[in-house]
Amino acid sequence: MSKRRCAILISGRGSNMESLIAAARDGDFPVEIALVLSNRPEAQGLASAKARGIAIAAVDHKIYAGRDAFEGSLQKMLEAHRIDFICLAGFMRLLTPRFVNHWQGRLINIHPALLPSYPGLHTHERALADGVKIHGCTVHYVVAEMDAGPIIMQAAINVRDDDTPESLGKRVLAQEHAIYPAALRLAASGAVRAEGNRVQGAGGRDVGMVAPDLD
Ligand code: GAR
Repeated sequence: MSKRRCAILISGRGSNMESLIAAARDGDFPVEIALVLSNRPEAQGLASAKARGIAIAAVDHKIYAGRDAFEGSLQKMLEAHRIDFICLAGFMRLLTPRFVNHWQGRLINIHPALLPSYPGLHTHERALADGVKIHGCTVHYVVAEMDAGPIIMQAAINVRDDDTPESLGKRVLAQEHAIYPAALRLAASGAVRAEGNRVQGAGGRDVGMVAPDLD
């Protein structure tokens, strides 16, 4: 089967992008990373993608009059690179329902919390302030509502008594790097599908949850 052509959309550091690029080096991986695109031309991740020989593009949201014009350029760039699957990886722009609906089922995101808890920003600070004992990360299909949509995979970790937002965020990020490639493999290969808000493994396989740090 030919590989799907995937774009990774970033806004900053790009450590999740790197984990996807590394996973895609595997000949069996169902996608090739055909483009890394940032809304911020200075994003650190663009330089590291370029150094790895991946095509890069910047579509600077600040030069467009509004979201529709920005997304029109985004869409043109994706079409120019014949993209058929998108991973958001620290992409910090809200996407319009029009864009999201166009890419429905082919657009996934990683979020640094166990959704539906803690959508939005500052997830680690908020988890600590609430005193939760379990925290983690989520890969999900993107829908028009922010940080919502059918959940493909989650990883849970223990919150430790001496955790700070930084220490907690570091352990969550390590799990992000583990589950994002795994979830992309499932979603892009058709091994899972969304039915309503639930993602089911094709053939009834259980694929959703890894809990690597619960002891
Ligand atoms: C990651 O922790 C990702 O989950 C988060 O931004 C960080 C990007 O880091 N995304 C969101 O908060 C989106 N709502 P990275 O650039 O090193 O991958």
